[in-house]
Amino acid sequence: MIVIYPGSFDPVTNGHLDIIKRCSKKFDKVIVAILNNSSKKTLFTVEERTELLKKAVEKYDNVEIDDFSGLLIDYAKERNVTTMVRGLRAVSDFEYEMQMALVNKKLYGDIETLFMVSSGEYAYLSSSIVKEVAMFDGDVSCLVPNVVEKALKEKLRGGQGK
Ligand code: PNS
Repeated sequence: MIVIYPGSFDPVTNGHLDIIKRCSKKFDKVIVAILNNSSKKTLFTVEERTELLKKAVEKYDNVEIDDFSGLLIDYAKERNVTTMVRGLRAVSDFEYEMQMALVNKKLYGDIETLFMVSSGEYAYLSSSIVKEVAMFDGDVSCLVPNVVEKALKEKLRGGQGK
């Protein structure tokens, strides 16, 4: 069974990696699909997010990194995949995730969204929180892989990021 794990991954966190690792054990193949939407302001470009994810998952043989623009269901059709996985952290995630899953189902009846509950240790973690901590020079070493920690330092100290 092949699944798509979609997201912005701006940047990938240890919480995302936990879901990817667990999916790679449960499914034959995991396609991590990075949203490439020019209207959504991101700290890292899609090329940078792809590079960081590739480095972070290089030990998993059955994980592919790709990007998509437009609707997720159109990407799923293009890749011939009908199952998507989303991580659920807290109840606060639920409403938005439920809405997305229902809209996707309405638009494409064959699609199924599976929710994987985050490991407790990552339940508080998000890319936004990571960026905020990094912006104020806080220690993000336990929140993201080393490559991302380094990239955040370069980006934020290099003055390119917001
Ligand atoms: O990591 P994120 O930002 O929570 O991921 C959200 C994502 C990329 C899965 C979602 O925004 C998405 O699928 N966007 C593509 C546009 C789309 O298909 N929208 C309809 C579903 S509501």
